[in-house]
Amino acid sequence: MESKFFIKDSKDFIAKKVELKGWVYNKRSSGSIAFLQLRDGTGFIQGVVVKNEVSPTTFETARNLTLESSVIITGLIREDKRAPSGYEMSIVNIKTLQIPKEEYPLGKKDHGPDFLLNNRHLWLRSKRQWAIQRVRHAIIYAIYSHLEEEGFIKIDAPILTPSAAEGTTTLFPVPYLPAWSDEELDKEEITLKSQNAVAYLSQSGQLYLEAAIAAHGKVFDFGPTFRAEKSKTRRHLSEFWMMDAEAAFVEHEENMATQEKLIKAILKAVLDKCPEELNILERDTTILKNILDKKFPIINHQEAIKLAQKENLSIGQRDDLGAEAETLISNKFDTPVFIQKYPKEIKAFYMKADPKDSSRVLNNDLLAPEGFGEIIGGSQREDNLEKLTAWMKELNMNLKDYEWYLDLRRFGSIPHSGFGAGLERLVAWICKLEHVRESIPFPRMLDRFTP
Ligand code: 4AD
Ligand code: MG
Repeated sequence: MESKFFIKDSKDFIAKKVELKGWVYNKRSSGSIAFLQLRDGTGFIQGVVVKNEVSPTTFETARNLTLESSVIITGLIREDKRAPSGYEMSIVNIKTLQIPKEEYPLGKKDHGPDFLLNNRHLWLRSKRQWAIQRVRHAIIYAIYSHLEEEGFIKIDAPILTPSAAEGTTTLFPVPYLPAWSDEELDKEEITLKSQNAVAYLSQSGQLYLEAAIAAHGKVFDFGPTFRAEKSKTRRHLSEFWMMDAEAAFVEHEENMATQEKLIKAILKAVLDKCPEELNILERDTTILKNILDKKFPIINHQEAIKLAQKENLSIGQRDDLGAEAETLISNKFDTPVFIQKYPKEIKAFYMKADPKDSSRVLNNDLLAPEGFGEIIGGSQREDNLEKLTAWMKELNMNLKDYEWYLDLRRFGSIPHSGFGAGLERLVAWICKLEHVRESIPFPRMLDRFTP
């Protein structure tokens, strides 16, 4: 027996006898031959069992296997140009670990989205879902390695937070502690100052990264973030993964350049590492490749509104771009496009006003092409204490909650900028998915938090 075998390494095992540990994801058999579609986590391969080339028990075992049987199979790897993977396995022996007694719920084709989501724990095994999660992995890995190369330090922002980082309308409140009785606490000799405190699940680690740049210069985080989204769209999850990056002495233009470089690094990594996955997803890769050596256009919010109005969308001068306008605009470009300088009143409190027009902010959204819409939101931050507090007061924010954040402007304030990229939006765009729910292993949405 050769060294440990995985399907992804088939090319190194041609004409060799190997042991494959995996699952039967499909099966076809006739009187004298059985075809087993096998999966081992690293890839897919077809195994062939020929009646008169194996023992009668092995052939019988092959015929008795049902979908999702777990198996240890011995066989010979051979090249086969007709096989989807380019390789096939001539099976000589089958050891079964478990044969399901019931019919596999996802065995038939064409299930509705609800059925699939209810069976997400099984659906993850399907070829498409396999490919999507591997692309997701490649994106995560590319973000870490690119930012590390660029000198960013990973800082872990907290998940339980005392106040809002973004709009309060999407805050996810949770009791900070369970309601322990005085008796229970007395027994442990614990006195708590505020047992009834409410915490909010993090909407973004940004504010904490702004603290960390004074220690490290360039930092990033990557973690789960939460929004109690009232929108039921194909782009919104209540729990999603976001990477925030923040850098000292970086202004608006350079902030956008950093985003562009990161997106190109991600695309390059996925194209290099995931050709099989993109092929399974039937993703047109030339569209993605063509982005690599093009400059991303930058257009003003004002012009973006005009573009949308030209297409008969009813939208006001100072409105946010809704999903519809974003789709419309991003359909017009074959690269991601920056929309910059939104009206101040529709954006988060921390954004710096544009010195040329104080009613607008030095921010950007980055819209992915092909109608995918916003994948990144970024801005230069207000670094002037007086301006920041004046605006926060106007927004009726409770300054007491943000004293620590305001300290960052009191002690060594500097121009700085950052951005947040939504992982599921990136996955959905790169894999060309209808809905972000497929881009995360176990999606949490407005009306779903199972399984
Ligand atoms: O534009 P957002 O709200 O920006 C922030 O939270 C900033 N604090 C980031 C920063 O400057 N450090 O969110 C950033 C990104 C969006 O562009 C989008 O890709 C994703 O997070 N996102 C969501 N993804 C899935 N479901 C949701 N409900 C999302 N809300 C935002
Ligand atoms: Mg945004």
